Amino acid sequence: MTSAWDYHNRTSYDRRDMKGGYLDWSSQPGVFKSYPGRSPAPLPRDTLLTTESVQSILAVGNCESDASPINLNRLGKILYLTHTLTAKARVSGGDFYYRSVASAGALYPFELYVAALTVADLKAGIYHHDILNNGLTLLRNGISATELIQGLGFSRDNLPAVVFFLTAIIFRSSWKYRDRAYRYLLLDTGHMAENLSLALRSERLRFRVFYDFEDQAVNDLLAIDSNREVCLAAVCVWAGDGVLKDGPGLEPSQPDLSAYSKVSDGERDYPIIREIHAASSYVPKNNNQRPPFRSQFGLAVDSWKELPDTLEPPDILSYPEAVQKRRSMRNYISREMPEQRFSALLRGVCSDIHLTVIMESSIPDCIGIGLLIGNIVGWTPGFYLLDRTRRAIGLVREGFMMDEMAHVCLDQAWLANCSVHIVFLADFNEMEETGGARFYRHAMMNAGRLGQRIYLLATSMRIGCCGIGAFYDAEAAMLLGLTGRNRMLYLVGAGVVKKWAIWNDRL
Ligand SMILES: Cc1cc2nc3c(=O)[nH]c(=O)nc-3n(C[C@H](O)[C@H](O)[C@H](O)COP(=O)(O)O)c2cc1C
Repeated sequence: MTSAWDYHNRTSYDRRDMKGGYLDWSSQPGVFKSYPGRSPAPLPRDTLLTTESVQSILAVGNCESDASPINLNRLGKILYLTHTLTAKARVSGGDFYYRSVASAGALYPFELYVAALTVADLKAGIYHHDILNNGLTLLRNGISATELIQGLGFSRDNLPAVVFFLTAIIFRSSWKYRDRAYRYLLLDTGHMAENLSLALRSERLRFRVFYDFEDQAVNDLLAIDSNREVCLAAVCVWAGDGVLKDGPGLEPSQPDLSAYSKVSDGERDYPIIREIHAASSYVPKNNNQRPPFRSQFGLAVDSWKELPDTLEPPDILSYPEAVQKRRSMRNYISREMPEQRFSALLRGVCSDIHLTVIMESSIPDCIGIGLLIGNIVGWTPGFYLLDRTRRAIGLVREGFMMDEMAHVCLDQAWLANCSVHIVFLADFNEMEETGGARFYRHAMMNAGRLGQRIYLLATSMRIGCCGIGAFYDAEAAMLLGLTGRNRMLYLVGAGVVKKWAIWNDRL
């Protein structure tokens, strides 16, 4: 198997061929990575957080960038806003912790590492973010510009102050989702990348999200076992004078460190996951010069309508509150979503498409966004496409399809009561011709990034939201009218939920 299309197709769910959901609890993977014998240095806790809204953070532009140096306090804030524990539940085996990042099946495959080059009050080195203890575990002392440059490919005179590396531990997801797990590793990592991206925006830092690097060089840098744990994204942050003081260089990696990528004694290998990861490890050249994606996914749009220019909804939660309160909601009630909230949600989704050059962090256009509208004030139910560049919505087909989509999503009946299903689409022909299988990673992580953003925007307006990765793939394509190699990658449902109904009635 060499193509992303092959992988995606072979891991499609088919109603007539579902192989039971048996879970081997004796091999349940651990969800917190630790390095016995190395204690994490605590991160500052009581830092002052912004009171801005998610919407205003998404609108931050270049002129506002703040190049003042990063210190431990600022780094702590960024890490808190990226990945933190948000709730605790008692389960039979002990305590279970929910997190600020959504994750398919609450399996939390992702890990976060920090390469600190020039951070005040923190010695240069490579650290693991220990979310359970809110600390940084030093893995390797010192830092070598050469090793970083080798892995990420930027020049010595433009060195970042910090690089964040986002990895995923394969068995954490494949334990439950088996062959299909690679999809969730990418989507979940995208969710985390967006939290990090928003945290950096809120600090007005200049940054760039990389999906393209030499896999093995980066995995070696992080001292992870690349058969078990793989780096999927790197986020470089520029601040301070960008001059790397010549230090002692990076201490050699200790062989025992890679052993901590193991999460269960009963780990199983899924060859198809190894194959798609290997197939997508080739990085196409001249990625930055590719023409914009043009695909309309084989869909004909009847008429376009610009998104209404509504005011920011009143009483919205601040961005840090939204991060803390974000949860997946499933108790939707059949009530119309006010247009103001709908429009604010979509404006947030479109917001940074114009900021490509500015923050170097815009989510590129290798995916499409569709909207199944069911219950929004002023909008006829139907299937629409969203044009992020023009901030316009185009009608593809009228009709109420929320029940049918709920049926397609493994009969998760509650989805029918959502006001809107936001669907992420890919044209596998165009995707693979342009960027090979590597662009599958881009597409899925971008879908995850926008998914997390929708969660936060929705939460801030007290709208319910839930990501959906479980659906019968061919049925989803058929319902949306996608032909050939066009497919739905991911769905995010949003709507009025019982606990927040009163907030939506007020408008
Ligand atoms: C990629 C992805 C796929 C998901 N798929 C589903 C799904 O099919 N059905 C569902 O009820 N929840 C789904 N979820 C929601 C997760 O179950 C939820 O994020 C997880 O249980 C953690 O709970 P929380 O989001 O409330 O913190 C998905 C989440 C993600 C990120």
